[in-house]
Parts: sequence; C-alpha cells; structure tokens
Amino acid sequence: MGEITLEIDGTEVKVEEEITILEAAKNVGIDIPTLCYHPALSPFGACRLCSVEITSRGRSKIVTSCNYPVEEGLVVNTKSPAVIETRKLISEFLLARCPNVKLIQDLAREYGVEKPRFKSGREDEKCILCGLCARICEERMAKSVINFVGRGVDRRVETPFQQTYDVDLDVCMACGACVTVCPTGAIKLEDITSKKPIPILSEFDMGLKSRAPVYIPFPQAVPNVPVIDREKCIHFTTGKCKICQEFCKPKAIDFEQEDEIIEVEVGAIVIATGYDIFDPSLISQYGYRRFDNVITSFEFERLVSSTGPTEGNIVLKDGSTPQSVAIIHCVGSRDEKYHEYCSRVCCMHSLKHAHQIKAKTGAEVYQMYIDMRCFGKGYEEFYKRVSDEGVNFIRGKVAKVTDIALSEEEKGKLIVICEDTLLGSMIRVPVDMVILSVAMESRADADEVARLFSLERSADGFLLERHHKIDPVGTMVDGIYVAGCCQGPKDIPDTVSQAIGAAAKVLALITRDKMEVEAAVVDG
Ligand code: SF4
Ligand code: SF4
Ligand code: SF4
Ligand code: FES
Repeated sequence: MGEITLEIDGTEVKVEEEITILEAAKNVGIDIPTLCYHPALSPFGACRLCSVEITSRGRSKIVTSCNYPVEEGLVVNTKSPAVIETRKLISEFLLARCPNVKLIQDLAREYGVEKPRFKSGREDEKCILCGLCARICEERMAKSVINFVGRGVDRRVETPFQQTYDVDLDVCMACGACVTVCPTGAIKLEDITSKKPIPILSEFDMGLKSRAPVYIPFPQAVPNVPVIDREKCIHFTTGKCKICQEFCKPKAIDFEQEDEIIEVEVGAIVIATGYDIFDPSLISQYGYRRFDNVITSFEFERLVSSTGPTEGNIVLKDGSTPQSVAIIHCVGSRDEKYHEYCSRVCCMHSLKHAHQIKAKTGAEVYQMYIDMRCFGKGYEEFYKRVSDEGVNFIRGKVAKVTDIALSEEEKGKLIVICEDTLLGSMIRVPVDMVILSVAMESRADADEVARLFSLERSADGFLLERHHKIDPVGTMVDGIYVAGCCQGPKDIPDTVSQAIGAAAKVLALITRDKMEVEAAVVDG
C-alpha cells in the first residue's frame, strides 16, 4: 500500500492510501468526535458528528470523516466554524430526539446547546439510530437479529420481541455484543432474547470468574501467550468475528493453525502429569453446589490470591466479609467410600487457610479434623503458631452441613454438625463460610497414560513407582520416571525433591556411553 500526503489542521501528514480521514486524523493524534463509528465495523455515516471541512482543487465542503477516503493534497479542517456549526446542529437534533440520554446531553452542552429549538420526541427515547447494534450483530456475529424498520420519524431498531414471528425462532445467541456496543444503553438483552448469557468460567480461577474466548490460561503460563477457545470463539462457531485478528498489531493470530503431533526422539521420559481434585458434591450432605458459601480449598486458594477474582479479599458470595469460617479436613480422603489414602497436603493447607482468614478478616475459625498430620520440617511449629492465633480445633468427622436453624443464633448461617470425639458429643457450629479440604486423586486419564508407557497403577489409581522405598522415581520400564502427584499425593517440597531425583536419574542414564536394558523391554 502506497503513501499519500495531505494536510490536517495545518499540519502536513503522510498516511497510507485507502484509509479514511478519521483514521488519518487519529493516526496523528487529532481527535474527531464520533457516534455511529466503531473501528471493528463498516462505516455507516448516520450521525454525521464526525463532519470535517475538506478543500480540494479550490472547493470546500463538509463531509463525514469516518467514511471519506484520504486523497493526495487534500486539506482537512476538523475545527472550522462550519464544522463546529454542523456538529452543534447535529447535537441539537439528537437532544430533541433523546432529551434524557446523558451522553447526548453532555455532547449538546459541549456545543453550547442546553435546550433544542425543535419539538422533543418521546421523553424516554434512548436510541440515536446509530446502527452499531445491527452492524455488530450482522457483520461480526453473523446473526442479523436486529434491524432497522420504518421510515422517517418512524425509523427504529427492531428486536425479535417486537417482531411478529414466533419468538421460538429466536436466533439470538445472547452474546451481548449489541448491548456492549450501544453508546446510549438503549438496548437491553432481556428485550432481545429470552436466552440468558452463559459466562465462560475461568478454569484457573476455579469457575469463580469468567474469561474471554481468547485468554492466557494462567498468569505464569509458559509460553505466556493467549490461546483461543475453539468451542466458544464466535469465529469458530459462526465463521465471522475475527476482531482480535484485525486488532492484533503483530498479526499473531492465525485461525488456520492446526494441532500438530511432533515426534521427538529422547533417551528418557519423566512423567509429571499431576492430579485431579475430588468432586465434593459426591458427598451431598456437605452441601457443595447447594449452598453458595460452601467452597473447596482450591477455590479458597484463588479467593485469597492477590491475582484472584477478588484480588485477595476473602468474601462471601454476597460480597460481605465472613465473621466465622469452618474448615473441614479429609473431604474424600481417608474415607472408605471414596479414597482410603491420606492426601498429605490438606492438614497443612487448612492451617495456612486458617492463618490467612485470621490475618485478613479476624473471623472465628474452626478446624474439623480427624487427626493432625503435620509431618514436614517446620510443620508442627506452624500448627502450634496457628493454635496460638486462636483457631478452634474440633476433633471429629463432620456429619452434615445444613442451613436449617434451630436457634436464633443459627439463623442465616450454615450449621456444621459434627461429632466432637474429645467431648464425646455431637455439636452444631454456625458459620458464614465452609471450606472443604478436598482430596487429591489420580487424573482421569491416568489409565491412558499408564497404557501408553506400559506402566502399572497402584490400587489408589496413581502411577506405580519401581519400589516405594528404594526407587520412588523409577518405574518398571527402564528410562521412564515419575515425578510429583501422578505417582501419589504430595506437597511442594516432596514434589520438588522427587523431580530433582528424576532429573538426576535421567542425567545418569543419558550420559552413559552404553546402556543395558532388561530383556523384557528389548524391542521385538
Ligand atoms: S445478543 Fe443477539 S442480537 Fe445482540 S449481537 Fe448477540 S446475537 Fe445479535
Ligand atoms: S439501540 Fe443503541 S446501538 Fe442500536 S441503533 Fe439504537 S443507539 Fe445505536
Ligand atoms: S474471533 Fe477473536 S474476538 Fe472474536 S470471539 Fe473469537 S477470540 Fe473473540
Ligand atoms: S461517526 Fe461518522 S457519521 Fe457517525
């Protein structure tokens, strides 16, 4: 694309051919007011607010800058008396049509119009007929749900609710793009469709906040680049949109990119596929998903994180700060019905959560535990410190979480019903929030991974190590090692130690000149 030279407000500027005067002015930092323009949509030329005065071959005229292409030698004036007069008149017309829209009131005031000389339209009219909603729906969402109907003073935007055909034909996908783009708030999603927008929940934030179809999976992702969710992206569902691609300056978005299978020849493999989280809704008596303020320990981790959905503020679903919190240990662990094993991390992260709640909210904290397993370096000392901070420890298994109050004190609370084995009696603890310290479990695809590498799994579903005491990182297949929670639940220090052990084993193997393999694994 070639370059041309023109003059804008007395300054000579060089711009690409085939752009508009508005784009050229924006490129050099000159602001022109607009209403019906959106950089992602085709120009409409409806509001005329972007009017400028151009002079070419000695003749001057007023044109709309959002759809007028630049020309060699063009002289543009964006603030001439004729331009200001045009904009003043437009703002007066708009104010007459929409007298109670703040955006229009502010615009008119800017041009010195307090009251229009013309007769006002409907007092509650909000639509300025800019057409942004109809254009985004058609051009980017490929839907054409909204359209203009009528002529002259009867011209208006129509939505399915006002249309005569059966609303069951409702093709609107409730994406909300039209609502977002409407500059005056004239359009409401509930007027267009009976469908409710379904937010895309962030996997990293445990569903506590939503994310866009194009997103960076988590802040420390490697590589730290966005990915597109093909199931949710409008382009992959309707073939249109592509807004992100047009606005990505380095042109990094390639919709044609396909998944690739890359073959890499290696001498050793470390499997570190991690773990899954136990679904506590299986223990229905704990009320997870039934009560808003029953959350898992992993959800709490996001809640308390400064990069989380509440920027680290510990709050209830209604935004208020909890006055009391119960932390239930061993949810899904050490339970014959679910997992018999101990998840090894829950006692310590429950203590950490109790400490964080105390420090951030001063709430009363209750720990309901079977027994405390503080086995690591400094762990017992931390347990003592949290006890000294005034956390209440109740030894016993929780039977139920309910919202059925039996006393004034319990009204509006979640009541944790628990056997206190030290007192030898059932107790009821009313709290605002319940945190379930859920079990770690083997990944859903552990069997597939095991088969792929000819490995075995132990009875608990995790990948089996060669020997649990003398070779906890090796497997029965030479050259294949395990690290982290794919082999069994463990905390960060143990995971790091095992990963270092696996790396050392790999180095010892691949730096040898010759290698002996067991007959059982010789190919053929
Ligand atoms: S919400 Fe419906 S009408 Fe609005 S842009 Fe999306 S599909 Fe179109
Ligand atoms: S509803 Fe909003 S976006 Fe649509 S034409 Fe009216 S003012 Fe413009
Ligand atoms: S094409 Fe880009 S902007 Fe449009 S929905 Fe997909 S990710 Fe979002
Ligand atoms: S912004 Fe150019 S005509 Fe409306």
